[in-house]
Amino acid sequence: MMDLKNFLWGSATASYQCEGAWDLDERVESMWDHYLHEEGLENGDIASDHYHHFEEDIRMMKEGGQRAYRFSLSWPRIIKNKQGEINEKGLAFYHKILDCCHENGIEPFVTIYHWDLPQYWEETGGWLNEEVCTAFAQYAKVCFQNFHTKIRKWVTFNEPKWFVCSGYLIGNYPPCIQDVSKTIKAAYHVMYASALGIKEFREGGYEGEIGIVHSFTPVNGVDDRIETKIAMRYADNYCNNWILDTAAKGEIPIDLLSELSKQYDISYMKPEQLKIIKENTVDFLGLNYYSRTLVKPYTSGETTFVVNNSGKAGKGSSKVIVKHWFEQVMHDPNSTYTEWDTEIYPKGLKDGLLEVHQKYGLPIYITENGIGMYEDVTVPQVDDEYRISFMRDHIKAMFEAMEQGANIKGYFAWSSFDLYSWKNGCEKRYGLVAVDFDHDRIRKPKKSYTWYRDMINSNAENL
Ligand code: NOJ
Repeated sequence: MMDLKNFLWGSATASYQCEGAWDLDERVESMWDHYLHEEGLENGDIASDHYHHFEEDIRMMKEGGQRAYRFSLSWPRIIKNKQGEINEKGLAFYHKILDCCHENGIEPFVTIYHWDLPQYWEETGGWLNEEVCTAFAQYAKVCFQNFHTKIRKWVTFNEPKWFVCSGYLIGNYPPCIQDVSKTIKAAYHVMYASALGIKEFREGGYEGEIGIVHSFTPVNGVDDRIETKIAMRYADNYCNNWILDTAAKGEIPIDLLSELSKQYDISYMKPEQLKIIKENTVDFLGLNYYSRTLVKPYTSGETTFVVNNSGKAGKGSSKVIVKHWFEQVMHDPNSTYTEWDTEIYPKGLKDGLLEVHQKYGLPIYITENGIGMYEDVTVPQVDDEYRISFMRDHIKAMFEAMEQGANIKGYFAWSSFDLYSWKNGCEKRYGLVAVDFDHDRIRKPKKSYTWYRDMINSNAENL
C-alpha cells in the first residue's frame, strides 16, 4: 500500500475561465476579452462567476476531500498598465481566495500566467516583444512580494506549447497569427520569461517551490522502423522537449535548434539570455495529461495541422502548413475517443510519467487530467460514470508509474467545477461540480465529485 498521506489530491481552474467579473474592481482588458468581444464570440465575461462564488467553491473542495486548489492569478486584475501600477483591489481579491483556502485546509497551487495577457501588452506585440518578458518578471515579483506568506507552490506558465502554437502557428487563439518564424520567437520569449520569473523568486529568497506546467503528450510511433523513430524525435521536440528540456535542464534541444537555424533567423536568442535560462531551472514539473500523440513518418506534401473548433465559439477549421517533420495519426481504430475526439489512453500517462522521471528526475505533479463532455445539468445530479472511469483508469496508471519509481506528488482533476473552455465555450464541461450557466450559476456536485471524495478518503483503497 502506497503512503499517500502527503499526496496533494486536488482540482484546478484558471482565472479567465472561471472568475467572470471581467471589468469589476478596476480589472483591465485581457487579450482574450478584447479578441472575443471584437469577434462577437462566446466569452468569459461572467463564466462561472467564481469572483462571487469562491467561498462556496472552496468549501465544496474541502467537503469533497480535496487537499489542494490549483488556480491562476490574473495579470490584468493585478497590474493596471505598462507602467506597472498595482491594482490594490485585485490583490485584495486574491488575498480573500488564499485566506479562504487556508481556512478550509486547502493548499493553494498557484499559476502566475494562464493565458490572459493584458491587452495593453498585446498591443505592443505581445509575446513577440522582448519587453513583455521583463514585464512578466515584474508582475511575478509583485505576486511573490504580496502573496509569499500564503503560497508555497508556484507555477510560472501554464502550457506554453498550447497557447503559443494556438496563437502563432494554428491561429485559432488570439493573436490569431499563422507564422512559423513568429511561433519560434514567441516560444523562446515565453521560456525566457519563465526563467526570469524563477530568477526573481530565487533572488527574493521566498519559501516554497516553483515550476512550470506543460501540456504533456507522450509520443508513440506506428511501428519500429528507423524512419518512424526519426519522426518520433521530431514530434517529441515539437510536442514536449522544447519546454521540458528548457525548463528542467536549461537547454533548448540542440537538434531542434540546429534544424530551426537552417530556415529561420534565431539571432535574437542572445547568449546572456541563454545563460539566464540555463541558471534558472524549475524545482518541479507540472504535467497536464489528456492524451498521447501517435505519429508516422512524413510521406508527401506538407504537414497540415487541422484544428476543428467544433464548439459554439469556433466555426469551421483553420489550416497551417509547416515543414514536414512528421505526420500525426488522428485516429487509431483500436482506441476509444471522447465526444470531442480526444483519444482515451491511460497507458500514455504511465509511460509518459516514467519517461519524464527518467529524463529529468524531478518531482512531478499531474496538474490537469479530465474529460470534456456535453452534459445536461438541469437534472438533480449529473451521472458522469464516464468521468469516474476516466479518472480511475488514469489514477491507476499514475500509481503504476509511482510503484516503478516516479516521484509524483499530486494529482489535480480538471476542473473543480464547470467553466468556460476557451473556443469550445461553456458547453464542453469538465467539472466535478456542475454549474448551471442558465440558472444563477447554481452549483451541484456530479457523481464524480462524490467518487473522488470517497477515493481520497479511503486512501485509494476503493480504486
Ligand atoms: C488545458 C488548459 O490548461 C485549460 O485552460 C484547458 O481548458 C484544459 N486543458 C482543457 O482543454
